[in-house]
Amino acid sequence: MRVPRTTRNPHLLGIEGLDRSFIDALFALAGEHKRATASGVPRTPLAGRVVANLFFEDSTRTRTSFEIAAKTMGAEVLNWTVTGTSVSKGEGLIDTARNVDAIGPAAIVIRHGSSGAAQLISRYVRCSVINAGDGAHEHPSQALLDAFTLQERLGTLKGKHVLIAGDILHSRVARSNIYCLGLLGASVLVSGPPTLIPKDIEALGCKVATNFREAVEMADAVMMLRVQAERQTDRAFPSAREYAAHWGLNGALALQMKDGAVVLHPGPVNWGVELSPEVAEGVRSTILEQVANGVAIRMAILETFAW
Ligand code: CP
Repeated sequence: MRVPRTTRNPHLLGIEGLDRSFIDALFALAGEHKRATASGVPRTPLAGRVVANLFFEDSTRTRTSFEIAAKTMGAEVLNWTVTGTSVSKGEGLIDTARNVDAIGPAAIVIRHGSSGAAQLISRYVRCSVINAGDGAHEHPSQALLDAFTLQERLGTLKGKHVLIAGDILHSRVARSNIYCLGLLGASVLVSGPPTLIPKDIEALGCKVATNFREAVEMADAVMMLRVQAERQTDRAFPSAREYAAHWGLNGALALQMKDGAVVLHPGPVNWGVELSPEVAEGVRSTILEQVANGVAIRMAILETFAW
């Protein structure tokens, strides 16, 4: 199955603007890839193509799973990171992207610290651009793998209550998930320290829950977010200990969750701050399933956009 890539979406810049049928088709394709990989039948629709990973910010999960996804489908992978490149000589984002594009990849997968970076380079390159996280804006492949994992665990997202909790302000994962989960029929709540909840967040299609514990107890899924210390200029909360006490998900609170409710985290985890190890290792946790599903989802994304 090929997901229709229309002139409206030659790039994957975010979840905003996608429609439900596109996501359903992408999930069907990811399911095919997951089953094919599990049965050991190689599928190589990207043979002879090059995928360029352009990572201006660090990554473990996203970069490696885009690399594995591309190689599994027969593509060559160019892994570009800032270290050792002409960025040290002052070469900027657009020049870097145009020069990598001139090498001839089918797609550039870009992560950058500035919101809008993926959209910006898409105006200057001939190949497809896949946003692997841009500042606090969007992280579409993460939201897609999260929703895919939730559908596997919960059966459907229609009518389900999903709580996204923690550092919403700096989270591209939160924004992409609010759009994606809403499109799939879930009711999305966000909760966290008031200093880390953007004032206009409900305009994206979610509600703010002021009582975190109550929201955890009502949810079918709780997505705990990493406190992004590297993006914070001021202290948004007094200490890690107080954050854990008021906004962390520990074993005692997880015991109050509904039967069958699950816990997600995009990683990396600040252990003992937003999430305790006993919850992450418990039966509710989908953390490593999310990582594993990331490969199938990124195979579907690359098959759709890298051509
Ligand atoms: N979830 C996520 O984006 O992880 P990485 O920063 O390791 O890619």
